[in-house]
Amino acid sequence: MRVALGADHAGFKLKDEIKGFLASQGLEVEDLGTHSEEPVDYPDVAERVATLVAGGGADLGILVCGTGIGQAIAANKVPGVRAAVANDVFTARLAREHNNANVLTLGARVVGVGLAMEIVRAFLEASFEGGRHARRVEKIRALEARYMAEGVAGREEGRR
Ligand code: RB5
Repeated sequence: MRVALGADHAGFKLKDEIKGFLASQGLEVEDLGTHSEEPVDYPDVAERVATLVAGGGADLGILVCGTGIGQAIAANKVPGVRAAVANDVFTARLAREHNNANVLTLGARVVGVGLAMEIVRAFLEASFEGGRHARRVEKIRALEARYMAEGVAGREEGRR
């Protein structure tokens, strides 16, 4: 499995811990920065990870910032990305099982290193359950396709 990894300055240290953990699990890791605590803007990093995942260059992505929120909002703007903020193990597991999330975002100012590794492990080990969840995820894909094609005019089709 190939995992794309990224963080802003707030998540840089935790990102490096995660990188070590992933390598210890024998996973292929693509570290897309940042590489220091020099301030950077999280949407720039989110875009690098999100486009790699959406384009099939990585199976999953992991993004870290202060809370995980900014990275998730930014990554979810890239079509094909389903990014989930998970600062607990249960949410990380369900993000894969129910939502087929392909990007996990974490808050380095929210969780400690030990919990973060458990969250990452839960996300990587879980798999999409399909069934009724597949119908819902397909509706998310259709929503994305409609608004990409039609902008807010897509609202009218959604109401029909
Ligand atoms: C950076 O200070 C912080 O705003 C960022 O890491 C993140 O928490 C945004 O969601």
